[in-house]
Amino acid sequence: MSEPQPIHLSDYRPPAYRVTHTELTFDLAPSATRVKARLHVERHPERQAGEPLMLDGEQLALKAIAIDGQPLGEDEYALTEGGLTVHRVPEAFRLDTEVEIAPEANTALEGLYQSNGMYCTQCEAEGFRRITFYPDRPDVMATFSTTVIGDAEREPVLLSNGNPVERGELPGGRHFVTWEDPYPKPCYLFALVAGDLKKVEDSVTTRSGRDVTLQIWVEEENLDKTDHAMASLKRAMRWDEKTYGREYDLDLFMIVAVNDFNMGAMENKGLNIFNSAAVLTHPHTATDAAFQRVEGIVAHEYFHNWSGNRVTCRDWFQLSLKEGFTVFRDQCFSADTNSAPVKRIEEVAFFRTAQFAEDAGPTAHPVRPDHYIEIGNFYTLTIYEKGAEIVRMLCNLVGWEAFRRGSDRYFERFDGQAVTIEDFVGCMAEASGLDLTQFMRWYSQAGTPEIDAHGEYDYANAAYRLVLRQRTPATPGQPDKQPLHIPIRLGLVGTKSRRDLALTLDGEALGSDAVIHLCDEEQEFLFTDVSEAPVPSLLRGFSAPVKLHFPYAREDLAFLQAHDSDGFNRWDAGQRLALLALDDLIAAHRNGVEKVMDPRVVEAFRGLLTLEADDKAVLAEMLTLPSEAYIAEQQPLVDVDAIHAARTFVKQSLAMALRDDFLRVFEANQSEAPYSPEPEQIATRSLKNVALSYLVSIEDEAGIALAREQFEADHNMTDVRQALTLLVHSSREDLADPALRVFGEKWAHDPLVMDQWFSIQVTRPHSDALDRVKFLMDHPAFSLTNPNKVRALIGAFTGQNPVNFHRLDGEGYRLLADTVIELNRLNPEIAARLVTPLTRWARFDETRQALMKAELERIRAETLSPNVYEVVEKALA
Ligand code: ARG
Ligand code: ZN
Repeated sequence: MSEPQPIHLSDYRPPAYRVTHTELTFDLAPSATRVKARLHVERHPERQAGEPLMLDGEQLALKAIAIDGQPLGEDEYALTEGGLTVHRVPEAFRLDTEVEIAPEANTALEGLYQSNGMYCTQCEAEGFRRITFYPDRPDVMATFSTTVIGDAEREPVLLSNGNPVERGELPGGRHFVTWEDPYPKPCYLFALVAGDLKKVEDSVTTRSGRDVTLQIWVEEENLDKTDHAMASLKRAMRWDEKTYGREYDLDLFMIVAVNDFNMGAMENKGLNIFNSAAVLTHPHTATDAAFQRVEGIVAHEYFHNWSGNRVTCRDWFQLSLKEGFTVFRDQCFSADTNSAPVKRIEEVAFFRTAQFAEDAGPTAHPVRPDHYIEIGNFYTLTIYEKGAEIVRMLCNLVGWEAFRRGSDRYFERFDGQAVTIEDFVGCMAEASGLDLTQFMRWYSQAGTPEIDAHGEYDYANAAYRLVLRQRTPATPGQPDKQPLHIPIRLGLVGTKSRRDLALTLDGEALGSDAVIHLCDEEQEFLFTDVSEAPVPSLLRGFSAPVKLHFPYAREDLAFLQAHDSDGFNRWDAGQRLALLALDDLIAAHRNGVEKVMDPRVVEAFRGLLTLEADDKAVLAEMLTLPSEAYIAEQQPLVDVDAIHAARTFVKQSLAMALRDDFLRVFEANQSEAPYSPEPEQIATRSLKNVALSYLVSIEDEAGIALAREQFEADHNMTDVRQALTLLVHSSREDLADPALRVFGEKWAHDPLVMDQWFSIQVTRPHSDALDRVKFLMDHPAFSLTNPNKVRALIGAFTGQNPVNFHRLDGEGYRLLADTVIELNRLNPEIAARLVTPLTRWARFDETRQALMKAELERIRAETLSPNVYEVVEKALA
């Protein structure tokens, strides 16, 4: 078998033919669905006449083919592995094909497949080619008219994009519905759903007076879990009108929940399809985090209607054009509806852990990659989250007003087109008059820039000199990097006044919170009229996705944690302080020296707990220690055992020193109020539950009793899950097992709750975790063909249980490799994602490196999907 070959951005050409209108008819059957396609095709004006027509197609059984009504002879076309070529076609013509496909056998969940008996589709990026022969690329945009024929009893509901225009009965107990989508779209936005679904319905009137019907379609037992998604959708629609001036453009907007889904959700025009985990909530089944995730994803998919659908990507290298922008939009929406500083803290904590790791590993790639083998591997944190950070920097650089003007210009100029990142940034440059040439490097250079900073206060001249030096480490295929344009928001906090000092730079007064621009490799900034010695507060709000090193004394960090005017940097100072203490303890653990807790950290925490000056949501974040994964990210070589021991030691030391404070905070934030996912309630719960985690960490009797009570009170899933997790992760087996049993029996019927039940068990930091994973893989609620289950069990174990995944006997690695090998056949996209932890072998000691590489080699010896092939090759390169 030939090795999969990469495709290159530099090879882009417009398509030889475009499709102006697409008519589809689906006659549904689990093992033999018939798809008739009638494509109205014309030659692309920029391409020569006489070129063959090349259509993509995979796993399709061709039954008929005709041009302008004339069936083609066998010598007039050729079927290849990846599609179909018609050798000679007219300038403009009608192509009819009929194919047969087998949705029930589709475990890859790309194209048309079945989930719990219902039919659904996932076409982004290249799933449509598993439905019919088509130019499956985003720069071919057509209007669609789709007829779905199904069994009237089994599939009473037949949905597709746009508006329903006709429906009727057919012989043999069948019926049909025809849908028309008037907006030209690429085929990746096509969707079809058929099954026995129930809906909740609501409506909104848009700013210009269009009445829009909103529907959420679910299985009957989930009808009581849709309120929050519907409320979120309505909020998102309003927000996009108010903030970006964008209105919805059809009379109907539908969301469908399906259990088997590779990702979170999909923005198909007028018919968004969601992983049920990204749409269903109920106070008793979903945590606060899940409620917030649903709100964010519902908004994200809705926002794509403009940033993605009305204006789409020319080619898949531009994926971040729609994803980075849309993530930025959903982040701002969530910040506006929740606690904005906490939203930012959560985003950054996640980003610095997961995206930094990706950017430092063998699969590192630019936000706009220049080549790939399998685009399904590029739905990454870099494309999404780093892409969003770039758009955020743009917005901050040009200012909101110019950004909004640029956005209006972008949507107006490119409406109905498939465009590039240059088109987007070009609009921002025009709207602001700024030169963004150097800024564009953010899109082409992979790797996390590092900034080494140092500064001195000059008493005699009342000046503060800040020197910044940037470098971006080499990444695969990119040995040398150019300096980037890095916006750094900062303040100088006076050590006497404890206030932000006025900033004067080159004679210009900048206020007390300003942005400086690091564009050269090294730059010096001299602030004058600095009346007292300051501590610099740098990179406020994480103004650029970089690692910033500054030689802070621990006292300085404690000072910033207490006095910085920027909430984000107050949190970050605390994290930095904790990390310094953790460094010492990691070293102590490795050297077999007795661990001693840094009293400055204890005092900083005491200050937080006694002042309680902050809003509760921020306080809860400040009391949360950096995760083991984030600590690992900071270490030159990851020692999972030392990290776990050090973090546990810090946690327990704080709990012992501040037990009464934690207890007081817990009690002061107990509430019997009926559950609501509102920010104030979430903040109160977070604070209470952080306090509880400290109390249980030392197996304090009162703390254990409180956790048990909270579990038994069964007030809401946030509290129950936290209590259960603390009990299960403690070493009190006598408490863990009964609680797990109660919970597992109570929720056996609810797949989304069972996912949580799986995750809680396999993330317990005890030596039986791996056996539990194996045992649970045979549990009736587990299934390797359901991505949520795979993530809940295998993904949670490998990602959130470092001490056990990295066992020195290599059993954790072996389990992962076995699973990847099996999933490679069933669901390549999920298999390729799951393998990620093994690709990070270079971060570990030699013994583990060897074990991890051996498992990668074992995977490589299999017949691999392009997805897994690409990742494993990079990891072993
Ligand atoms: N466009 C979707 C979203 O971000 C994601 C679709 C990803 N699909 C895939 N097969 N990787 O909203
Ligand atoms: Zn998206």
